[in-house]
Amino acid sequence: MNVDVLIIGSGAAGLTAALNLAPELKVAVISKGALGEGATGWAQGGIAAVLEEGDTFDAHISDTMIAGAGLNDEQVVKHVVAGAPAAIARLAELGVPFATEGGALHLTREGGHSHRRIVHVADATGRAVQQALEAAVAKHPNITLLPDMVAIDLITGRHAADFSTSGQVHGLYAYNRRTRRVEALAARATILATGGAGRAYLYSTAPRGATGDGIAMAWRAGCRVSNMEFMQFHPTCLYNLEVKNFLITEAVRGEGGHLKLPPGVDGGGERFMPRFDQRAELAPRDIVARAIDHEIKRLGLDYVHLDISHREPDFVRGHFPNIFEKLLRLGIDITKEPIPVVPAQHYTCGGVVVDLAGRTDAPGLYAAGEVTQSGLHGANRLASNSLLECLVFGEAAARDILASWTDLPMPPPIRDWDESRVTDSDEEVVIAQIWGEIRRFMWNFVGIVRTTKRLERAKRRIDMLRQEVADYYRNFRVTPDLIELRNLVEVADLIVRCALSRQESRGLHFTLDFPDTAQAARDTILVP
Ligand code: FAD
Ligand code: SIN
Repeated sequence: MNVDVLIIGSGAAGLTAALNLAPELKVAVISKGALGEGATGWAQGGIAAVLEEGDTFDAHISDTMIAGAGLNDEQVVKHVVAGAPAAIARLAELGVPFATEGGALHLTREGGHSHRRIVHVADATGRAVQQALEAAVAKHPNITLLPDMVAIDLITGRHAADFSTSGQVHGLYAYNRRTRRVEALAARATILATGGAGRAYLYSTAPRGATGDGIAMAWRAGCRVSNMEFMQFHPTCLYNLEVKNFLITEAVRGEGGHLKLPPGVDGGGERFMPRFDQRAELAPRDIVARAIDHEIKRLGLDYVHLDISHREPDFVRGHFPNIFEKLLRLGIDITKEPIPVVPAQHYTCGGVVVDLAGRTDAPGLYAAGEVTQSGLHGANRLASNSLLECLVFGEAAARDILASWTDLPMPPPIRDWDESRVTDSDEEVVIAQIWGEIRRFMWNFVGIVRTTKRLERAKRRIDMLRQEVADYYRNFRVTPDLIELRNLVEVADLIVRCALSRQESRGLHFTLDFPDTAQAARDTILVP
């Protein structure tokens, strides 16, 4: 198959890029499952934009940079913050029914924001955004949607029929789940919009497909990857023995929710955040997650409590209808009782290095959204800046492709995927076993609080498992699980290498061996 532009990923970043390209070019969008299975559809809190009387771009920039602990690229932060109101207006035009109050957009508040700044659709903003974007792309005659296609590797000169050493990207090989065959999809430009790598951790709020595929593919294609040590842990994931990854939005704290120690321990029932930070529950996420982790370990708890039951029941039900319903089904009435919560991996701040136009190091390859390290988030992402980044960079990548279209070479004839020497594996259990092993030691050794010894332990295991996965990949026919596992072990390695090389504590990277922040702020950049 040949298209003008190939987009890998159908979340906010991918679909925004598609809509901006489609008036002029033929676009194909692939996703590894159904179109709406990425993190975008799961977003709860909302999207940050300066819309309140008295709020300013400078304040949003400053809040972003404070959360990012000095590592943000100020030019990128300014660009994204300035683009936010227009991005919100475009979503509203597409039909996203943002909450309003008295005729104006209702703005909620989240940690680290000095103003009410978050536009939202109750507590299920992502679902509404995903639905509106999907409806718009489905209507466009220039956009072909290809669900159930799992990208394996980017196509460069070495995959051309006439082998070359060119690093120019010409599309990718993808596994078609319906035909169980690998197809070559050729394109003049390719955009990675594959989301994050949260599933490298045992406990994560991210969807099942967040296995860092785009990061691993770009790395193998010769792109730099940066800041992977900055894995964001959301402070408040529901603690429940059946439902493992349900987020309780930060907006619950924004609207007055308190974090308390559970009854039965010293200080039970008391708020503990004021002991850790004067912003209490509304401190940036890294601080709140670390405080909860500290209290859980100090007191030997399974969870802490998030309590919003002091607010009027109608207010709670009105602002958080989905959380209210979901928890009621699990036997918790949040208008009357507190919610048991624990921190869980939530967002990948690092990723493929891109410039302001979404260009990666490989010619013809762009990237947008959570797969990237654009410079926006620095060492810790400010709440609700991520969907915003997807919208701004999805559009930026599209604009750059349109502007440089005539310079992008036609793809050469490409070699078919070699299936001659592979057989089906008779030991699928190996994949599940290694997958589980990685996620568990990443959680235990590369989590919220790190040490060099723990990181080295993780590194030794990764080195061994990488070898096993590489052997397995060489010998057996690819399956979606094997494709993901190969990427997962690659990103686990990138995370640990970045973490080992940062000899300080900053933002989301906290190590007991280097508890202070070093003077000079710098990105951790890995070069393939
Ligand atoms: P995604 O929306 O994750 O989409 C990734 C796409 O790539 C999917 O279509 C997937 O199928 C595809 N893909 C991946 N690998 C492959 C492959 N190998 N082959 C083919 N396709 C592939 N941010 C906010 O700003 N505000 C919020 O309120 C908010 N709430 C959140 C709540 C939760 C529970 C979570 C998990 C995250 C939240 N975030 C929020 C973060 C935000 O949702 C994500 O960062 C953002 O949606 C990422 O969008 P994306 O387009 O980059 O990727
Ligand atoms: C949330 O609703 O707490 C998530 C917001 C975000 O991740 O930006």
